[in-house]
Amino acid sequence: AGKMGSKKERTLAIIKPDALIKMGDIIQMIYDAGLMIIKAKMSKVSWKEAMDFYAEHQSKSFFNNLMQFMTSGPVVAMEIMGDEAVAAWRRLLGPTDSSVARNEAPNSVRAKFGTDGTKNAGHGSDSLASAARELELFFPSTTGRGPSNTARFTDC
Ligand code: PPS
Repeated sequence: AGKMGSKKERTLAIIKPDALIKMGDIIQMIYDAGLMIIKAKMSKVSWKEAMDFYAEHQSKSFFNNLMQFMTSGPVVAMEIMGDEAVAAWRRLLGPTDSSVARNEAPNSVRAKFGTDGTKNAGHGSDSLASAARELELFFPSTTGRGPSNTARFTDC
């Protein structure tokens, strides 16, 4: 059971292609932070799947760059559970830009394993609503509750 006043949540964590080789260290950091990994899979994300996943950023100047990077090699997707897991995992990731992370959160995943604003080692859902949508993309529910037209991310 969690601390009083805390809330058990589930979120999606992605180890991005640049940090795949550091998955062991990152998994250790997740458990050290008191979070649990409920599901995990290595997956090669297609261009279309990446576009669906990052649909909210399609008008951004970096969108094409982001698509290129996320399809450049396998990723590890994980369902993480714990007290306030959405915020806890994003705190553990650190700021989006890895250089900023090295200044502001030197023990974070991005500070340790990221390179810059593109190669930034990991992703975390930014809200409970995003977490539900993103978990469904990587780990579709088999009970028929999820959207029937959801893209099924292909395994390696
Ligand atoms: S924004 O504009 O504030 O919503 O963007 P931000 O939250 O900083 O970033 C959203 C995701 O886009 C990625 N990103 C980039 N990818 C490639 N190149 C550049 N320049 C770039 N800038 C931002 C960033 O890593 C975020 O990815 P996720 O996976 O959500 O962390």
